[in-house]
Parts: sequence; structure tokens; C-alpha cells
Amino acid sequence: MRSPKDFFAPLALGAPNPIREVPIRPSRMIHFFDPSNEKMRSKIPAIAPSVDILLGNLEDAVAADNKEAARNGLVEVGRGWVNGETQLWTRVNSLDSPWFIDDVFTLVSEIGEKLDVIMVPKVEGAEDIHYVDQLLAQLEAKASLSRPILIHAILETARGVANVEEICGASPRMQGLSLGPADLAADRRMKTTRVGGGHPGYLVRQDPAEGVEDRDRFTFQQDLWHYTISRMVDACGSFGILPFYGPFGDIADVLACEDQFRNAYLLGCVGAWSLHPVQIDIAKKVFSPEPSEVEWAMHVISEMGDGTGAVMIDGKMQDDATVKQCHVIVNLARELSAKDPELASSYGF
Ligand code: GLV
Ligand code: MG
Repeated sequence: MRSPKDFFAPLALGAPNPIREVPIRPSRMIHFFDPSNEKMRSKIPAIAPSVDILLGNLEDAVAADNKEAARNGLVEVGRGWVNGETQLWTRVNSLDSPWFIDDVFTLVSEIGEKLDVIMVPKVEGAEDIHYVDQLLAQLEAKASLSRPILIHAILETARGVANVEEICGASPRMQGLSLGPADLAADRRMKTTRVGGGHPGYLVRQDPAEGVEDRDRFTFQQDLWHYTISRMVDACGSFGILPFYGPFGDIADVLACEDQFRNAYLLGCVGAWSLHPVQIDIAKKVFSPEPSEVEWAMHVISEMGDGTGAVMIDGKMQDDATVKQCHVIVNLARELSAKDPELASSYGF
């Protein structure tokens, strides 16, 4: 048994104090780049201001013989990084890989002050977070860091989904979760061969009807990720941490990417991964409330006065609960506007 008070004591002598609340910062897209790629590194100064989060990826999609180059490339990026509006994250290799320990050791010692969040893949349960939590505290103390590095876990194994609540509550360092649809599909033995998105075979069909040929019975494709995203959103909400949709692999299908991101936004996610510059703008558009929505929400808030009771606006009933929904939209618009003057003016702030 552990006293709740202990959660707010550092896990190693000299480590910074744990945080009590996840800092709310614009987080509409986590933009992935491969730090082993010199050309990509040279584009960082241009890309960084256009994204909310920049992530140096060391895990999947980086070939085994490039792992060290990626780690060293990220150290180079971190040394030149000026902490500002854009967050710097990394995705390290998984806990059972031969690279994890050197990833964490090198990054915390060399660029710990620059890193906001470490994304840990293939998290299975609270025990994984406890291990990373303790290790980070020891390394932070050794490097004399002034603030703790937060942890973001990828939900991409069946056991991870089954244990999602205990993962969220395993440490005050927990910043959020991302859905990892590709690994999760493999681990669950789903019969897909893509990264996120739907599948034309996963559908419901109209019942047989008099005079309707079987081939004419209409079908609707269903969302393969609805259950997992909803479960992740509830778990994150319960523990005050942030849910993100993960990757969408069909870079050319910008329309379906936008749909997938929007489903996640509507269900409560704060952002998604961008794997290609074209997905940055999609995420920016989808995860920023529409100006008309913000205008409507501000109208409802103003009509609702002290926020209690009920009023009819344009034939729609508004009450204490709808005004709370409106506050969610307006608060998000204000948070994003603090970083994005163009967005602020589109909302009339
Ligand atoms: C992401 O890491 C995924 O597996 O989808
Ligand atoms: Mg994965």
C-alpha cells in the first residue's frame, strides 16, 4: 500500500518535485520526424514553429542499424532547441528492446532540460510506468534537472487496453495516452494491414426488405476504433490526463485522415499524430473549434447568465449541462488562441 501523499514526493533524492496537474498547452498535432535523417533535421527550424509538438522518433519506422544515429541526431536537435511555445518530445524504443536503456540514459543526461515528454510505446500495465518513473527520477537527479519529464504511453496492446485505467493512474508524470492502431491491430489479431482508419469489410447491412434485391441492400462502414478511443478518453478524463488519436498511415487519403481525426476530436481527443507535413494542417483544422461553433457557444454562455436554469435559443433547449459543453469549446478556443493570433482573430478574441 502507498500513501497518496507519496505520489507527490520525488522518487529519487535530488529529483525535481512531481507535477500535480498536466500543463494545458496547445497539443493538436504531435509531428513525428526521424532524427537520423540529416535532411529532416535541417528542416526543424522551419517546421517547429508551425506545430504544437515536435517528436523525435527513435522506435518503429527507424531501422535497427539507424537507432544510434537517430538517438545522436535527436541530441543534436535538442542542443540547439530553445524551449518556447512548441514542445519537444521523443518516442523511445520499447522497454524490452536492446535500445531503451541507452535512449533514456542519453536523452535525459544530454538534453533533459529541453525534453517535455517521453512517449513510451507498447505499455502493458502500471508496472511499466512504475519502472520508467523511477528510472527517470534517478536520471533527472543525476543530471540536476529543474523539472520532471512527463510520460505519454501508447495504447497498442490488448493488455494495455485492458489495463488502461491503472496505466493512467500509475504516476503523476502521466501526461496522456495515444492510440496506436497498427500495433494494437496486430496484437489483437485484427485482420487489417493498415495504420489506422476504417476497413470496407467492417460494416452493417440493411435488413432484407420486400422488393429489395440483396445486392441493393445498403451498407454503412463502421468505425473499427470507436470502442478503444472511447475507452481511452474515459480513462484519461478520470485521471486528468490527455487523450490523443495516433497515426493515420494513408498519407495520400487526406479526406479519410480528416474524418478519422474529426471522430477523435468529437469523442474528446485533444490531438493526433502527423506523419507527413500534409497532416499538420489537417490536425490544425480539425482540433481547433470552428469559429461558428465558438460564436454559438459564447452566445449560449451569455444567454445562460449565471449558468443555471433553462432557456430556448433558436428552438433548442439550453441548460446547466449544455452551458458546460459550451465552456469546453470556448476554453479550448482561448487556449489555442494564446499561441495562434490568426486563430484568435477568426474567433474575434
Ligand atoms: C503506432 O505506434 C501504432 O502502432 O499504430
Ligand atoms: Mg506502434
